Amino acid sequence: MSKKNILITGGAGFIGSHVVRRFVKNYPDYTIINLDKLTYAGNLANLRDIDHAPNYRFVKGDICDSEFMLEIFRQYNFEGVIHLAAESHVDRSIANPMEFIMTNIVGTVNLLNAAREIWKGDFNNKRFYHISTDEVYGSLGNSGFFTEDTRYDPHSPYSASKASSDHLVRAYYDTYGLPALISNCSNNYGSFQFPEKLIPLAINNICNNKPVPVYGTGENIRDWLFVEDHAVAIDVIYHYGKNGETYNIGGHNEWKNIDLIQLLCKVMDRKLNRPEGTSAQLITFVKDRAGHDLRYAIDSSKLQKELGWKPSLQFEEGLEKTVDWYLNNQQWVNEVTSGEYKNYYEKQYDLR
Ligand code: NAD
Ligand code: TYD
Repeated sequence: MSKKNILITGGAGFIGSHVVRRFVKNYPDYTIINLDKLTYAGNLANLRDIDHAPNYRFVKGDICDSEFMLEIFRQYNFEGVIHLAAESHVDRSIANPMEFIMTNIVGTVNLLNAAREIWKGDFNNKRFYHISTDEVYGSLGNSGFFTEDTRYDPHSPYSASKASSDHLVRAYYDTYGLPALISNCSNNYGSFQFPEKLIPLAINNICNNKPVPVYGTGENIRDWLFVEDHAVAIDVIYHYGKNGETYNIGGHNEWKNIDLIQLLCKVMDRKLNRPEGTSAQLITFVKDRAGHDLRYAIDSSKLQKELGWKPSLQFEEGLEKTVDWYLNNQQWVNEVTSGEYKNYYEKQYDLR
C-alpha cells in the first residue's frame, strides 16, 4: 500500500510542532512533510524528538513563493494539507502589517492555487484544512460566545489577515469545489510557545526578575486551551470533519489577564521556592494595546456534539505542566530569545 503524503505548513512553530509530532507518531501510514520558512517563530529544535522518524520530512520554504509551492505539490502529490503557517502575533501585526498580508493572505492563496492546479478537479480523498483563530470574530462584551455563525469583525491587522484567508478558503470551496474546511481556535498555551505571547513571556520575565507587562488594566479576557488539546482537535477534524464546514475549538476556560497572571505568579513562587507574593511584585501595568479586543470566548459545542472532541486538561494542571516545561527547557528559551527577539522586546516594551 502506498503511503499518503500530508503537507503540514508552519510545522516548526508552536502549534504546528505539536500537530506534526502527533501525526508522525500516530500515523505511520502517512508521510508528513513539514514545510516551514523558519522565521523567528519557527525552530527545528521543537521537533528534535521525531526528526529522524522514517515518515517525516522537513522542507524549508516560503508559502509566498508560488512557483516553489507548485513544485512541492507536484513532487509529493499530497492527499491532504493542514495549513498552519502564519505570522501570528498581534503586536507585531500592529508594528508591521505587510508581512501579515503577505504570509497570511497571499501565502494561503498560493497554497489554494497549488492544490487546485495539482489536484485538477479530482478531489477524491483530498482535503485542504485551514487553521484559523477566534480573533476573526472580533470582541465580545461581558456575555455571549462565538459560534460558527458569528459575523466576522476583526480589529487587528493579524485578525483581519486571518479573516481574509478564511474567506478565500471558503471562496475556493464555493467556486471550485476545493475540498476545504476551517477551524477557529481560542488562545493556546503550552510547551514550545515563543516567549512573545503572554504566558511564556510572563514565565520568562518572572524567572529573570523582570517586570511582567500587563496591558491596560488587565481586564481583557481570553479563553485558554492547552496546545495538545488543540492538536487532538485538529486530528479529529482532519479525519472526520465535513468539507465546507467550520468548527470552533475552545475549552470554556475564560480568564481575565490580571487573574491569570496572579495565578501564574503563585505557581512561579512555589516552583522557584520564593515567598508567596514575590513574583506578583513584578506585575507592571503598561500602555494598552491599540484596538485591544475586550473578550474572546468560544462555543465549541458543534465540535463536541458532532465529532466527540473535548478538552482533556483543567487549566491549573495545564499551566503547571507549562511552567515545568519552561523551567526545564531554559536553554531553548535562551536560544529563541537571544537574537532578533531582543530588538523586538526593546521596541515593544519600554521596560528594563
Ligand atoms: P507560530 O508563530 O508559533 O508559528 C508559525 C510558523 O509558521 C513558524 O514556524 C514560522 O516559521 C512559519 N511561517 C511563517 N511565515 C511563513 C511563510 N511565509 N512560509 C512558511 N512558513 C512560515 O504560530 P502558532 O501560534 O503556532 O499558530 C499556528 C497557526 O494557528 C496560525 O495560523 C495561527 O493563526 C493559528 N492559531 C494560533 C493560536 C494561538 O493561540 N497561538 C490560536 C488559534 C489559531
Ligand atoms: P497574546 O498572548 O499576545 O495573545 P492574543 O493577543 O492573540 O490574545 O495576549 C493575550 C492577552 O494578554 C491579550 O489580551 C494581550 C495581553 N498581553 C499583556 O497584557 N501583556 C503582554 O506583554 C502580552 C504579550 C499580552
